[in-house]
Amino acid sequence: METVTVRIRQDAQEFSPREDAALREAGNIIKNGGLVAFPTETVYGLGGDGLNPTSSQKIYAAKGRPSDNPLIIHICDLEDLKEIVSELPEAAMRAAKAFWPGPLTMIFHKAEKVPYETTGGLDTVAVPLPSHKTAQKLIEYSGGYIAAPSANRSGRPSPTVAKYVEEDMQGRIEMIIDGGEVGIGLESTIIDMTVDPPQILRPGYVTADMLAEVLGKVDTDVTILTADSGQAPKAPGMKYRHYAPKGELVIVEGDAEAVVKYINAQTAADRANHLRTGIIATEENRDKYEADSVKCVGSRADEECIARHLFTALREFDDEQIDRMYSESFSSHGLGQAIMNRLLKAAGHKVVRLQ
Ligand code: TXA
Ligand code: MG
Repeated sequence: METVTVRIRQDAQEFSPREDAALREAGNIIKNGGLVAFPTETVYGLGGDGLNPTSSQKIYAAKGRPSDNPLIIHICDLEDLKEIVSELPEAAMRAAKAFWPGPLTMIFHKAEKVPYETTGGLDTVAVPLPSHKTAQKLIEYSGGYIAAPSANRSGRPSPTVAKYVEEDMQGRIEMIIDGGEVGIGLESTIIDMTVDPPQILRPGYVTADMLAEVLGKVDTDVTILTADSGQAPKAPGMKYRHYAPKGELVIVEGDAEAVVKYINAQTAADRANHLRTGIIATEENRDKYEADSVKCVGSRADEECIARHLFTALREFDDEQIDRMYSESFSSHGLGQAIMNRLLKAAGHKVVRLQ
């Protein structure tokens, strides 16, 4: 299959006739059962018609994703939610008012018309209403319900630019909409609204504190930051090794000076063994490291910047054929919780704690 890439200006709020025509064409591809990758404010998605079982099967095939891992259905109008859920808790309406459109995915009991092929056999359905205008327009032109996982091959870091979508999806899908770099860089927060209190299954830009302010008490799935809770994560996708670069990644935690010293000793030893080394560093320390590739993800205080650059750093290490990677550790509060959750998964929970 030939994959066509079309460009839409990054952060376009309104569309030129050419852009509008491209989005209509993309919408028609999805209506006809095809697949289109598109930007959202979080990461690029790989979209198909969420109400068409064949489209969902194609998404699993294109991603190489196990079919017990459910897809989330993107909508562009709150009214459309009623069609695909069988219960609409009052608390969810409050959260929708506060955080939609935006990077929040809520889980509901599904309506009958949502195929089990989309929900991975579950009786629940996860729904985001993204704020990205290109995503919204595409959803509208596609008939209102786009099932879209992140547009990476299963297990790879989620793509934050179209280049990485092309790398993973070229020849597997009909179209890629290149809308430049995404704003947030980590996937949406997922919260299960079918339980009381609601439970966060995946941390993201909408933090636990922000949700608690609107919903009162919220729980967090214990598996989010621990490897050894002995429990299966509630979001099926979170159990898979994920976001993983090809080489080995270790997170190093401790006092800044000790971390720099430890990492430099490790990279020196690795390089003596002819291994190519990479480091995920903060602005504060970047100049102190010695390695084949040092990626600065931002200042320690600027978590939004760190979030936006994390997946790209992991992808670039692959491009540079890095064998061993080390990362500084980050705060695990607020947005830091989402950053650490992805980093821990990328590292397969390999953490060195220095005294
Ligand atoms: O930001 C995002 O959420 C991106 C953009 C494209 O929207 N999408 C995304 O989709 O990250 P995906 O499929 O890569 O991650 C969705 C996660 C998976 O871990 C999946 O297992 C979980 O949501 N999930 C989906 N439906 C669920 C359900 N009914 N119950 C529990 N977990 C669910
Ligand atoms: Mg994903």
